Amino acid sequence: MTPHKLVPLISEEQIQQKTKELALRISQDYRDKDLLMVGILKGAWVFMADLIRRLTVPVKCDFVSVSSYGLNTESSGRVKILLDLSQPIKKKDVLLIEDIVDTGLTLKCLIENLWLRKPNSLKVCALLDKPSRRSKPIVLDYMGFTVPNKFIVGYGIDYAEQYRNLPYIGYLRI
Ligand code: IMP
Ligand code: MG
Repeated sequence: MTPHKLVPLISEEQIQQKTKELALRISQDYRDKDLLMVGILKGAWVFMADLIRRLTVPVKCDFVSVSSYGLNTESSGRVKILLDLSQPIKKKDVLLIEDIVDTGLTLKCLIENLWLRKPNSLKVCALLDKPSRRSKPIVLDYMGFTVPNKFIVGYGIDYAEQYRNLPYIGYLRI
């Protein structure tokens, strides 16, 4: 069906182990907080689904969907909110869940937008970090794996809407 070769990078077991570790840290850090996890659609939902089931603290969930503005994005650093939060986040402890951080533009713009709504705290949990293309410095409070500058797919992450269902993470050799 596809001319791309899929090269495995991170196994299902490695992902589950990391998810467990991250959930443990988050559970400790948010023990006395009002945790609201905000998943960035669509890439983050598989990771977030596994992560919340490992938490030992109460959690509420919400989602945003963003898209880049196309060619202007790299220079303007703007993203467009396609689906906004369903509730105010004032005084909440917001933890943004992202699949993969590449240039950092998406997160930078979203973080600026969300701070204007006056949350009590705002942190970021990203499953994958692709630091080689970073143009905006981003603090990743919780991070799973560093990946090379390849086209990553699987475990929620797509190429042209395909491969989200893979239980592991790989890259496409195009
Ligand atoms: P940014 O460059 O950090 O703004 O990343 C923008 C978005 O592109 C991320 O939220 C991912 O959903 C997506 N993305 C970045 N790198 C990859 C990749 O290797 N495979 C699939 N999606 C990616
Ligand atoms: Mg994403």
